Amino acid sequence: MSKVLVTGGTGYIGSHTIVDLIDNGFEVISVDNLTNSNEDSLDGIEKITGVRVKNYRVDMVNLAALLDIFRENPDIIGVIHFAAYKLVGESVEKPLQYFQNNLGGLINLLTCMNTFSVPNLIFSSSCSVYGNSEELPVTEATPFQEAESPYARTKQMGEHIITDYARANPGSHSVILRYFNPAGAHESALIGEAPSNKATNLVPVITETAIGKRDSMTVFGDDYDTRDGSCIRDYIHVMDLANAHTKALQYLLAGKDRTNCEVFNLGIGEGVSVLEAIKAFEKVSGKPLNYEIGPRRPGDVVAIYANNRKSAEELGWKPERDIEVIMQSAWDWEQQRSA
Ligand code: NAD
Ligand code: WQD
Repeated sequence: MSKVLVTGGTGYIGSHTIVDLIDNGFEVISVDNLTNSNEDSLDGIEKITGVRVKNYRVDMVNLAALLDIFRENPDIIGVIHFAAYKLVGESVEKPLQYFQNNLGGLINLLTCMNTFSVPNLIFSSSCSVYGNSEELPVTEATPFQEAESPYARTKQMGEHIITDYARANPGSHSVILRYFNPAGAHESALIGEAPSNKATNLVPVITETAIGKRDSMTVFGDDYDTRDGSCIRDYIHVMDLANAHTKALQYLLAGKDRTNCEVFNLGIGEGVSVLEAIKAFEKVSGKPLNYEIGPRRPGDVVAIYANNRKSAEELGWKPERDIEVIMQSAWDWEQQRSA
């Protein structure tokens, strides 16, 4: 069996990706220092797949400890790199921590991969690299605009670091995946988004409000130039996203990459407004949501959604779940974890 190292494997997208990798016959090990997750997700993965995944509780900023993992596992064929800090607001307050963690971890990982001749890397990037794009939908060729936050800048810089590494190491093979707005949970409700940090993303804020963890929630602005005045995003179900990683790895292993550093957008290719997302939640849950309209949130882009044609054509990836499936699975997960 081919062994894959997943960094950030106990986190939200990492844990769902591990399930999809195991379902597709890969062996997985994880490295996660549990700064924004805990090992309960490994229990969920085991219940779903029957496989107990080993997690190395190691900080990727510690190069010596990371090298030890590669030394102990000389049969790693590829790495999927999720481990990073991801809170946009926090990154504005603590930019150095974000640069140190997100870029320090990446540089250490590339050093290990170079040292142990592990060729295949899949990197979690973000639609935030596009900034406030004038072009919609955005394609992989749409130029980066100024990053709206230090977090987004770590993703832009991470992409540049990988591109330069690929250029200097022709035997390496990297795929950069730009996620749009990941949401939802595994259909079993055994794993889902369970951050140690307070949720700030729209979908968990909606489910936490509906279950009563919050009294109400705020829609950040309804006076934008969009069809209903609220912001537009491309919400992608986490299991569709997870499957794109498996497909990207299979694509690298089959030698299908045209250059040794390829970039793909991962979104459904359609925009959904905040008010439409709330309506979808109310429809699947049968619960009216207690929300108010508030002022715009600083730094929000008005609208962004993906052109996902390249992922469809080259990876053979097709997202299958829409905003209602996202809301249903997020709601099932919220009810399960609050029970
Ligand atoms: P997450 O916080 O749930 O998972 C990241 C995991 O990495 C956490 O479990 C955390 O403990 C671990 N980690 C962080 N720093 C580490 C370090 N130095 N050493 C070891 N482990 C470390 O986040 P997620 O939503 O699963 O995001 C995964 C990746 O996808 C991140 O790189 C994130 O920036 C990117 N991304 C996320 C979104 C999103 O909205 N969730 C969107 C676009 C891109
Ligand atoms: C979505 C929409 C809000 C909460 C962020 C990062 C991006 C990527 C995904 C990592 C916006 C509105 C939200 C609330 C609201 N992450 N909203 N009330 O900002 O699109 O993207 O997560 O890479 O880089 O920037 O996601 O879920 O915060 O917001 O009205 O309480 O929901 O204004 O329009 P965002 P989000």
